[in-house]
Amino acid sequence: MQFTYANPTRIEFGQGKIASIKDAIPADQKVLVIYGGGSIKRNGVYDQVKEALSGHTWVEFSGVEPNPRAETLDKAVALCKEQGIDFILAVGGGSVIDGSKYVAAAAKYDGAGWDIMERKHTVTDALPLGAILTLPATGSESNQGAVITRGETQDKLAFMSPAVQPKFAVMDPDVMKTLPENQVVNGLVDAWVHICEQYLTRPHAAKVQDGYAETLLRTLLSLANDFDKRDSDEWRANLMWTANQALNGLIGTGVPHDWATHMIGHELTALYGVDHGRSLAIIQPWLLRNQMEFKQAKLEQMGRNVFALEEGDDLAERTVQAIEKFYHSLNVKTQLEEYTGTREEAVNAVVEQLERHQMVQLGENQSITLDRSREILEKAVA
Ligand code: NZQ
Ligand code: ZN
Repeated sequence: MQFTYANPTRIEFGQGKIASIKDAIPADQKVLVIYGGGSIKRNGVYDQVKEALSGHTWVEFSGVEPNPRAETLDKAVALCKEQGIDFILAVGGGSVIDGSKYVAAAAKYDGAGWDIMERKHTVTDALPLGAILTLPATGSESNQGAVITRGETQDKLAFMSPAVQPKFAVMDPDVMKTLPENQVVNGLVDAWVHICEQYLTRPHAAKVQDGYAETLLRTLLSLANDFDKRDSDEWRANLMWTANQALNGLIGTGVPHDWATHMIGHELTALYGVDHGRSLAIIQPWLLRNQMEFKQAKLEQMGRNVFALEEGDDLAERTVQAIEKFYHSLNVKTQLEEYTGTREEAVNAVVEQLERHQMVQLGENQSITLDRSREILEKAVA
């Protein structure tokens, strides 16, 4: 184990915490509040923000779409430059927070914002930002990552930089009350796969990371089992905290990472508009089976420690089946059913996108070549 670990995001967790932004943003800073399609106007979050910022000078930018688009975000970048914005407050789910990270970074850069996504510009400076989370799923509220789409070319790419890590994240589980059920499910599945991407690799000696990953997985499993109790403070708070812990960096320190399910899943979203969480459930079971030669030992460990399955030669396969059962229990599909053209055309289209994005050696062993991705997609596309 060898790593550097810092998570400098201050978390304000609990009911009524939105008011805390009043003191978290310096009073002399001009604030840009960024949000999405308007859910915050319907559930009272916008009013709480307005109240908390009554002593600040602020402007707003709305309309950040799910799977945020650079074309839209570039307008917010221009606004930051015109208005001399000092601080960005993201109010929304992963899309709004990711989009705000892009805006924060691009506002400090003279070239085209998309250069960041194409690695032509390395982000070392950004406007400071804070987040009010409204949808627990991505962990974006306290991590360094952002995933941005260019609609024109159907590119969905990620960047990471310590400069865009939020200064604070407000996590009030009450905001989840207005979430549509499908978004709650998306969040559960996304958090689940984030843990798997950092856990289902190969055996290693980092017992704390493995043990905590298993605790988080068992927690999500119990929340799925108690899905009919989701309208409770306890249920909401546990999902919100678990999804945060799944991708705040901690369980990923000093261990191998996979992320191939995410990279292939992003192409399904870019091409066919599949919700992020759902794209993962379509790819992951088939990817795990395809990579069984590498992943058997960790799948067996997960079978024992997360699902409490009996020992046996087929334990790894039974673990994959238990993961599928977990998705199906939430009415999440494990095959892509909606796409354009024939099945073969859909598989080819995804493989071509992966090639164009240099996603040609994915996974903890770089063993997922385009041929392997094709094999996975042959199973994943119905
Ligand atoms: O836009 P509004 O009106 O706010 O509606 C949103 C949106 O339509 C709605 N919503 C959010 N909070 C709500 C609510 N509706 C009612 N009540 C509330 N409290 O939910 C819809 C989906 O929101 P979105 O932000 O798109 O969802 P999510 O949080 O799942 O974010 C997905 C994005 O995050 C990226 C994904 O690729 C995708 O683009 N990811 C970011 C990661 C990161 N930064 O670390 C990691 C992830 O793996 C992921 O790739
Ligand atoms: Zn994800």
